[in-house]
Amino acid sequence: MDTRLFYADEAGIAGAAAILRAGGLVAFPSETVYGLGGDARDDRAVARIYEAKGRPSFNPLIVHLPDAEEVARFAVLPEGFARVAPFWPGPLTLVLPLRPDAGLSPLVTAGLDSVAVRVPAHPVTRALLRAFGGPMAGPSANPSGRISPTRAAHVLDGLSGRIEAVLDGGPCAVGVESTILGLTDGPRLLRPGGLPAEALEAVLGRLESGGDAAKPTAPGQLSSHYAPRGRVRLNSRAAAGEVGIGFGAGDEALNLSPAGDMVEAAANLFHMLRQADEMAGEAGTIAVAPVPEEGLGRAINDRLRRAAAPR
Ligand code: TXA
Ligand code: MG
Repeated sequence: MDTRLFYADEAGIAGAAAILRAGGLVAFPSETVYGLGGDARDDRAVARIYEAKGRPSFNPLIVHLPDAEEVARFAVLPEGFARVAPFWPGPLTLVLPLRPDAGLSPLVTAGLDSVAVRVPAHPVTRALLRAFGGPMAGPSANPSGRISPTRAAHVLDGLSGRIEAVLDGGPCAVGVESTILGLTDGPRLLRPGGLPAEALEAVLGRLESGGDAAKPTAPGQLSSHYAPRGRVRLNSRAAAGEVGIGFGAGDEALNLSPAGDMVEAAANLFHMLRQADEMAGEAGTIAVAPVPEEGLGRAINDRLRRAAAPR
Protein backbone atom coordinates (compact mmCIF):
# COMPACT_ATOMS: atom_id res chain seq x y z
CA MET A 1 0.00 0.00 0.00
CA ASP A 2 1.22 3.52 -0.79
CA THR A 3 0.87 5.80 2.20
CA ARG A 4 -0.40 9.21 1.09
CA LEU A 5 0.77 12.46 2.68
CA PHE A 6 -1.92 15.12 3.14
CA TYR A 7 -1.22 18.68 4.27
CA ALA A 8 -3.57 19.72 7.04
CA ASP A 9 -5.59 22.21 4.99
CA GLU A 10 -9.32 21.90 4.30
CA ALA A 11 -8.84 19.46 1.40
CA GLY A 12 -6.36 17.33 3.36
CA ILE A 13 -8.66 17.11 6.38
CA ALA A 14 -11.62 16.17 4.14
CA GLY A 15 -9.49 13.49 2.45
CA ALA A 16 -8.40 12.08 5.79
CA ALA A 17 -11.99 12.03 7.11
CA ALA A 18 -13.16 10.16 3.99
CA ILE A 19 -10.51 7.48 4.59
CA LEU A 20 -11.68 7.09 8.22
CA ARG A 21 -15.31 6.77 7.11
CA ALA A 22 -14.29 4.06 4.65
CA GLY A 23 -12.64 2.07 7.47
CA GLY A 24 -9.07 3.10 6.60
CA LEU A 25 -6.24 4.29 8.83
CA VAL A 26 -4.91 7.86 8.97
CA ALA A 27 -2.12 9.14 11.18
CA PHE A 28 -3.11 12.53 12.58
CA PRO A 29 -1.35 15.37 14.41
CA SER A 30 -2.37 16.33 17.95
CA GLU A 31 -0.85 18.68 20.52
CA THR A 32 0.81 15.71 22.27
CA VAL A 33 2.10 13.23 19.65
CA TYR A 34 0.87 11.91 16.29
CA GLY A 35 -1.88 9.33 16.64
CA LEU A 36 -2.93 6.45 14.37
CA GLY A 37 -6.62 7.01 13.72
CA GLY A 38 -9.33 4.54 12.81
CA ASP A 39 -13.10 4.26 13.35
CA ALA A 40 -13.51 3.07 16.96
CA ARG A 41 -16.83 1.35 16.08
CA ASP A 42 -15.30 -0.72 13.29
CA ASP A 43 -13.67 -4.01 14.40
CA ARG A 44 -11.71 -4.33 11.20
CA ALA A 45 -10.30 -0.81 11.34
CA VAL A 46 -9.28 -1.30 14.97
CA ALA A 47 -7.72 -4.67 14.26
CA ARG A 48 -5.70 -3.06 11.50
CA ILE A 49 -4.40 -0.47 14.00
CA TYR A 50 -3.05 -3.28 16.21
CA GLU A 51 -1.60 -4.99 13.15
CA ALA A 52 0.06 -1.84 11.76
CA LYS A 53 1.64 -1.09 15.15
CA GLY A 54 2.48 -4.70 15.96
CA ARG A 55 0.87 -3.97 19.34
CA PRO A 56 0.06 -6.76 21.81
CA SER A 57 -3.70 -6.99 21.82
CA PHE A 58 -4.13 -6.61 25.60
CA ASN A 59 -3.28 -2.91 25.28
CA PRO A 60 -6.48 -0.89 24.91
CA LEU A 61 -6.67 2.29 22.80
CA ILE A 62 -7.71 5.89 23.49
CA VAL A 63 -10.99 7.06 21.92
CA HIS A 64 -10.79 10.65 20.64
CA LEU A 65 -13.88 12.87 20.66
CA PRO A 66 -14.45 16.43 19.39
CA ASP A 67 -15.88 17.80 22.64
CA ALA A 68 -16.56 16.90 26.25
CA GLU A 69 -20.36 16.71 25.77
CA GLU A 70 -19.88 13.63 23.54
CA VAL A 71 -18.23 11.63 26.32
CA ALA A 72 -21.54 10.69 28.00
CA ARG A 73 -22.54 8.68 24.88
CA PHE A 74 -19.68 6.26 25.50
CA ALA A 75 -18.91 6.34 29.21
CA VAL A 76 -20.52 6.66 32.63
CA LEU A 77 -19.46 9.93 34.29
CA PRO A 78 -18.16 9.09 37.77
CA GLU A 79 -17.41 11.33 40.73
CA GLY A 80 -14.51 13.61 39.94
CA PHE A 81 -15.38 13.87 36.25
CA ALA A 82 -16.87 17.36 36.55
CA ARG A 83 -13.76 18.59 38.33
CA VAL A 84 -11.35 17.51 35.60
CA ALA A 85 -13.49 17.94 32.46
CA PRO A 86 -12.53 21.67 32.36
CA PHE A 87 -8.97 20.57 31.43
CA TRP A 88 -10.43 19.55 28.04
CA PRO A 89 -9.72 20.17 25.28
CA GLY A 90 -6.14 19.27 26.14
CA PRO A 91 -3.45 16.67 26.88
CA LEU A 92 -5.60 14.65 29.34
CA THR A 93 -7.08 11.16 28.92
CA LEU A 94 -9.69 9.82 31.34
CA VAL A 95 -10.35 6.14 31.94
CA LEU A 96 -14.07 5.84 32.70
CA PRO A 97 -16.61 3.02 33.09
CA LEU A 98 -17.70 1.92 29.60
CA ARG A 99 -21.38 2.27 28.73
CA PRO A 100 -22.67 -1.13 27.60
CA ASP A 101 -24.51 0.58 24.73
CA ALA A 102 -21.48 2.64 23.64
CA GLY A 103 -21.28 0.85 20.30
CA LEU A 104 -17.48 0.72 20.36
CA SER A 105 -15.55 -2.22 18.98
CA PRO A 106 -14.57 -4.45 21.93
CA LEU A 107 -11.07 -4.43 20.43
CA VAL A 108 -10.74 -0.74 21.35
CA THR A 109 -11.15 -1.48 25.04
CA ALA A 110 -9.37 -4.85 24.75
CA GLY A 111 -12.45 -6.37 26.34
CA LEU A 112 -12.23 -4.24 29.53
CA ASP A 113 -15.34 -2.65 31.05
CA SER A 114 -13.63 0.75 31.01
CA VAL A 115 -12.77 3.10 28.18
CA ALA A 116 -10.07 5.74 27.75
CA VAL A 117 -11.34 8.98 26.20
CA ARG A 118 -9.62 12.21 25.21
CA VAL A 119 -10.77 15.53 23.78
CA PRO A 120 -7.68 16.91 22.02
CA ALA A 121 -6.96 20.63 21.72
CA HIS A 122 -5.13 20.72 18.37
CA PRO A 123 -7.34 22.55 15.82
CA VAL A 124 -6.49 20.00 13.10
CA THR A 125 -7.45 17.03 15.31
CA ARG A 126 -10.73 18.71 16.21
CA ALA A 127 -11.49 19.58 12.58
CA LEU A 128 -10.73 15.97 11.58
CA LEU A 129 -13.02 14.60 14.32
CA ARG A 130 -15.84 16.91 13.25
CA ALA A 131 -15.41 16.02 9.57
CA PHE A 132 -15.29 12.29 10.40
CA GLY A 133 -18.29 12.54 12.70
CA GLY A 134 -17.56 9.56 14.97
CA PRO A 135 -15.32 8.28 17.77
CA MET A 136 -11.73 7.82 16.58
CA ALA A 137 -9.42 5.24 18.10
CA GLY A 138 -5.91 6.68 18.22
CA PRO A 139 -2.85 5.14 19.82
CA SER A 140 0.45 6.89 19.19
CA ALA A 141 1.42 6.36 15.53
CA ASN A 142 4.60 4.35 16.11
CA PRO A 143 5.40 0.65 15.89
CA SER A 144 4.76 -0.83 19.35
CA GLY A 145 7.64 -0.29 21.79
CA ARG A 146 9.30 2.43 19.72
CA ILE A 147 9.53 6.17 20.32
CA SER A 148 6.29 8.11 19.78
CA PRO A 149 6.21 10.34 16.68
CA THR A 150 6.07 14.13 17.01
CA ARG A 151 6.39 14.89 13.27
CA ALA A 152 4.82 13.46 10.11
CA ALA A 153 8.28 12.22 9.00
CA HIS A 154 8.56 10.12 12.20
CA VAL A 155 5.25 8.45 11.36
CA LEU A 156 6.41 7.63 7.85
CA ASP A 157 9.66 6.20 9.28
CA GLY A 158 7.75 3.59 11.24
CA LEU A 159 4.47 3.00 9.42
CA SER A 160 4.97 3.88 5.74
CA GLY A 161 3.27 1.27 3.56
CA ARG A 162 1.12 0.01 6.46
CA ILE A 163 -1.51 2.79 6.62
CA GLU A 164 -3.53 4.77 4.06
CA ALA A 165 -2.36 8.30 4.89
CA VAL A 166 -0.59 10.74 7.17
CA LEU A 167 -2.10 14.15 7.83
CA ASP A 168 0.85 16.53 8.27
CA GLY A 169 0.13 19.27 10.82
CA GLY A 170 3.78 20.09 11.58
CA PRO A 171 5.62 19.34 14.84
CA CYS A 172 3.60 18.62 18.01
CA ALA A 173 3.70 21.46 20.53
CA VAL A 174 3.53 19.39 23.74
CA GLY A 175 5.67 16.46 22.57
CA VAL A 176 4.78 13.86 25.22
CA GLU A 177 1.60 11.81 25.38
CA SER A 178 -1.45 12.84 27.35
CA THR A 179 -1.65 12.40 31.11
CA ILE A 180 -3.91 9.42 31.89
CA LEU A 181 -6.19 9.69 34.91
CA GLY A 182 -8.19 6.65 35.96
CA LEU A 183 -11.62 7.42 37.44
CA THR A 184 -13.04 3.90 37.61
CA ASP A 185 -11.83 3.15 41.09
CA GLY A 186 -11.28 6.53 42.67
CA PRO A 187 -8.81 8.88 40.96
CA ARG A 188 -5.45 7.32 39.99
CA LEU A 189 -2.62 8.73 37.92
CA LEU A 190 -2.07 5.95 35.36
CA ARG A 191 0.46 7.80 33.21
CA PRO A 192 2.17 11.15 33.77
CA GLY A 193 1.98 13.22 30.60
CA GLY A 194 1.42 16.56 28.93
CA LEU A 195 -0.91 17.91 31.62
CA PRO A 196 1.18 18.30 34.79
CA ALA A 197 -0.12 16.02 37.56
CA GLU A 198 0.04 19.01 39.92
CA ALA A 199 -2.82 20.61 37.94
CA LEU A 200 -5.00 17.54 38.57
CA GLU A 201 -3.95 17.34 42.22
CA ALA A 202 -5.03 20.96 42.67
CA VAL A 203 -8.65 19.93 42.00
CA LEU A 204 -8.65 16.28 43.17
CA GLY A 205 -6.20 16.25 46.05
CA ARG A 206 -3.14 14.00 46.28
CA LEU A 207 -3.21 11.28 43.60
CA GLU A 208 -2.14 7.68 43.90
CA SER A 209 0.01 6.73 40.95
CA GLY A 210 0.31 3.72 38.74
CA GLY A 211 -1.51 0.46 38.62
CA ASP A 212 -0.29 -3.06 39.15
CA ALA A 213 3.03 -3.34 37.28
CA ALA A 214 2.59 -7.11 36.93
CA LYS A 215 -0.77 -6.62 35.26
CA PRO A 216 -0.34 -3.44 33.26
CA THR A 217 -3.48 -1.71 32.12
CA ALA A 218 -1.47 0.99 30.34
CA PRO A 219 1.47 -0.10 28.13
CA GLY A 220 3.22 2.99 29.30
CA GLN A 221 3.49 0.74 32.41
CA LEU A 222 5.44 -1.99 30.60
CA SER A 223 9.00 -1.35 31.68
CA SER A 224 10.66 -1.21 28.25
CA HIS A 225 8.76 1.09 25.90
CA TYR A 226 9.89 4.18 23.97
CA ALA A 227 13.14 2.39 23.27
CA PRO A 228 16.15 3.44 21.20
CA ARG A 229 18.27 0.51 19.92
CA GLY A 230 21.40 1.18 21.98
CA ARG A 231 21.99 1.66 25.70
CA VAL A 232 20.61 4.70 27.56
CA ARG A 233 22.21 6.10 30.75
CA LEU A 234 20.19 8.56 32.83
CA ASN A 235 21.24 11.51 34.99
CA SER A 236 24.64 11.44 33.28
CA ARG A 237 26.96 13.64 31.33
CA ALA A 238 28.29 12.00 28.13
CA ALA A 239 31.66 10.26 28.34
CA ALA A 240 33.96 10.16 25.29
CA GLY A 241 32.33 8.21 22.44
CA GLU A 242 28.81 8.53 23.91
CA VAL A 243 26.01 10.64 22.48
CA GLY A 244 24.90 13.24 25.01
CA ILE A 245 21.45 14.74 25.44
CA GLY A 246 21.69 17.80 27.64
CA PHE A 247 19.23 19.88 29.61
CA GLY A 248 20.16 23.42 30.60
CA ALA A 249 23.70 24.70 30.15
CA GLY A 250 26.13 22.14 28.69
CA ASP A 251 28.04 21.21 25.56
CA GLU A 252 26.20 18.01 24.62
CA ALA A 253 25.61 17.29 20.91
CA LEU A 254 21.86 17.55 21.54
CA ASN A 255 20.09 19.66 24.14
CA LEU A 256 16.43 19.30 25.19
CA SER A 257 16.40 22.95 26.25
CA PRO A 258 19.55 25.02 26.72
CA ALA A 259 17.43 27.51 28.71
CA GLY A 260 16.15 24.71 31.00
CA ASP A 261 12.57 25.26 29.83
CA MET A 262 10.40 22.19 30.52
CA VAL A 263 7.86 22.87 27.78
CA GLU A 264 10.60 23.16 25.16
CA ALA A 265 12.25 20.02 26.55
CA ALA A 266 9.05 17.96 26.28
CA ALA A 267 8.46 19.17 22.72
CA ASN A 268 12.03 18.10 21.75
CA LEU A 269 12.19 14.84 23.69
CA PHE A 270 11.16 12.18 21.17
CA HIS A 271 12.76 13.95 18.22
CA MET A 272 16.10 14.10 20.05
CA LEU A 273 15.87 10.50 21.25
CA ARG A 274 15.49 9.55 17.59
CA GLN A 275 18.43 11.71 16.54
CA ALA A 276 20.53 10.23 19.36
CA ASP A 277 19.44 6.72 18.33
CA GLU A 278 20.63 7.46 14.75
CA MET A 279 23.95 8.85 16.01
CA ALA A 280 24.66 6.12 18.57
CA GLY A 281 23.42 3.10 16.60
CA GLU A 282 22.90 -0.34 18.10
CA ALA A 283 26.31 -0.55 19.78
CA GLY A 284 26.39 2.99 21.17
CA THR A 285 25.33 4.64 24.39
CA ILE A 286 23.13 7.70 24.90
CA ALA A 287 23.76 9.70 28.10
CA VAL A 288 20.95 11.98 29.25
CA ALA A 289 21.51 14.87 31.67
CA PRO A 290 19.23 15.11 34.73
CA VAL A 291 15.84 16.78 34.29
CA PRO A 292 14.06 18.11 37.43
CA GLU A 293 11.21 15.86 38.66
CA GLU A 294 8.45 18.49 38.63
CA GLY A 295 5.67 19.57 36.26
CA LEU A 296 6.29 18.19 32.76
CA GLY A 297 9.62 16.88 34.07
CA ARG A 298 7.69 13.98 35.65
CA ALA A 299 6.44 12.91 32.22
CA ILE A 300 9.86 13.47 30.62
CA ASN A 301 11.64 11.39 33.28
CA ASP A 302 9.01 8.66 33.06
CA ARG A 303 9.63 8.31 29.30
CA LEU A 304 13.41 8.46 29.84
CA ARG A 305 13.30 5.69 32.48
CA ARG A 306 11.41 3.50 30.01
CA ALA A 307 13.89 4.32 27.25
CA ALA A 308 16.67 3.20 29.62
CA ALA A 309 14.93 0.07 30.94
CA PRO A 310 16.79 -3.22 30.33
CA ARG A 311 15.32 -5.32 27.52
O1 TXA B 1 -1.36 11.81 23.79
C1 TXA B 1 -1.88 10.69 23.66
O2 TXA B 1 -2.48 10.12 24.57
C2 TXA B 1 -1.73 10.02 22.29
C3 TXA B 1 -2.52 10.86 21.29
C4 TXA B 1 -2.49 10.30 19.91
O3 TXA B 1 -3.83 11.04 21.74
N1 TXA B 1 -2.19 8.67 22.32
C5 TXA B 1 -1.54 7.69 22.99
O4 TXA B 1 -2.10 6.45 22.86
O5 TXA B 1 -0.53 7.89 23.63
P1 TXA B 1 -1.39 5.08 23.28
O6 TXA B 1 -2.26 4.00 22.76
O7 TXA B 1 0.01 5.05 22.78
O8 TXA B 1 -1.50 5.05 24.81
C6 TXA B 1 -2.79 4.86 25.35
C7 TXA B 1 -2.70 4.45 26.76
C8 TXA B 1 -2.11 3.10 26.88
O9 TXA B 1 -1.11 3.13 27.90
C9 TXA B 1 -3.32 2.24 27.26
O10 TXA B 1 -3.00 1.07 27.95
C10 TXA B 1 -4.10 3.21 28.07
O11 TXA B 1 -3.99 4.39 27.34
N2 TXA B 1 -5.50 2.80 28.14
C11 TXA B 1 -6.39 2.77 27.16
N3 TXA B 1 -7.57 2.29 27.60
C12 TXA B 1 -7.40 2.01 28.90
C13 TXA B 1 -8.23 1.46 29.92
N4 TXA B 1 -9.49 1.11 29.68
N5 TXA B 1 -7.70 1.32 31.15
C14 TXA B 1 -6.43 1.67 31.42
N6 TXA B 1 -5.58 2.18 30.50
C15 TXA B 1 -6.06 2.33 29.26
MG1 MG C 1 2.12 4.76 22.59
